[in-house]
Amino acid sequence: MTADLFAPLELRGIEIPNRVMVSPMCQYSCEGRDGLPTDWHHTHLVSRAVGGAGLVMTEATAVEARGRITPHDLGIWSDTHADALAEITASIRENGSVPGIQLAHAGRKASKTRPWEGSDPLTGDEGWETVAPSAVPWPYEDGETAVRELSIEDIDGVIQSFVAAAERAREAGFGVAEIHAAHGYLLHEFLSPVTNHREDDYGGDFEGRTRLLREIAREIRAVWPDENPLFVRISATDWLDDRESWTVEDSIRLADDLAPLGVDLIDVSAGGVHPDQHIPSTGPGYQERYARRIKQESSEDVAVGAVGGITTAEQADALIRNGRGDLAIVGREHLRDPYFALHAARELDRLDADGIEIPIQYDRAF
Ligand code: FNR
Repeated sequence: MTADLFAPLELRGIEIPNRVMVSPMCQYSCEGRDGLPTDWHHTHLVSRAVGGAGLVMTEATAVEARGRITPHDLGIWSDTHADALAEITASIRENGSVPGIQLAHAGRKASKTRPWEGSDPLTGDEGWETVAPSAVPWPYEDGETAVRELSIEDIDGVIQSFVAAAERAREAGFGVAEIHAAHGYLLHEFLSPVTNHREDDYGGDFEGRTRLLREIAREIRAVWPDENPLFVRISATDWLDDRESWTVEDSIRLADDLAPLGVDLIDVSAGGVHPDQHIPSTGPGYQERYARRIKQESSEDVAVGAVGGITTAEQADALIRNGRGDLAIVGREHLRDPYFALHAARELDRLDADGIEIPIQYDRAF
């Protein structure tokens, strides 16, 4: 039988009740500079579980303090963070959804002000030194962030940070972990020849540039429970046709390499590594074709999530029915409508589906 938007998705030992995932979205809402979740994070994430999404993914959650984009990003670099996040995972589960965490390091795109403050590099005592595969700063219009090339020893430290973060995520009760290797942040900076100019084992050819991500995936898999899925978010293309860059063909090859390491789903986004990128379209489902290509052309049986411009029930349902993706990952529409999944079920006349649960308190509204 063809799956639809409200068919549960079984991955390893867990069942995601339906195919709607809340895309990771930074809220820049930690108070102070401690990376701890606040009432805002709790309300924001749990509302989307109440709203019916099968999988609720946290925003990019920094594995190290220097890996935050802004001082107000969420972190998981200590047990105190894990304890605080455990309250959120428990509430998400109580409301019928699977809690997921995006493990992230911002690399050379760290140490900035918040978007509503201009996303400018932080100066003076406010900022911090950023790290990257090569000491090439992001080309800001005004100013620069100091960026240091990671040594081999530093790289080992980054791997350990990701692994320790995954162990804490496990203790905090997350059901899915997603490694953030997209959007020009640290792991994408290693993948792309635009930002990786290293001549050692972690640079050069495809093998070298993908080494760090493969090592992190392998080491996380060793501590992440067997029954829990592991996702990787990638930028399928750098959208830079005018220079040597990361391409969809590279992404297909990467999916082939990641699946045998125990990666269960590739979350397919695009871009973010350089401001010269040329985005062909930002219309409905604008990145879906990359997800479809990875699903069709990977020689591995790896699940795929599509993200970007999914805003309607019909569109999300068609993605699943046509087999172009296994998860419909919805970002901004979830900011507009926390009840996206419940509204979609009503619109598609699927409120009776196994994969959808109407909170009893709201029963008469749907
Ligand atoms: C994002 N996006 C994003 N992506 C990611 O991988 N980690 C993150 O923390 C964030 N943060 C973030 C914050 C905000 C406010 C927005 C709007 C976006 C990208 C997001 O997950 C998604 O990929 C894009 O928004 C495209 O999907 P939609 O919004 O068209 O459904």
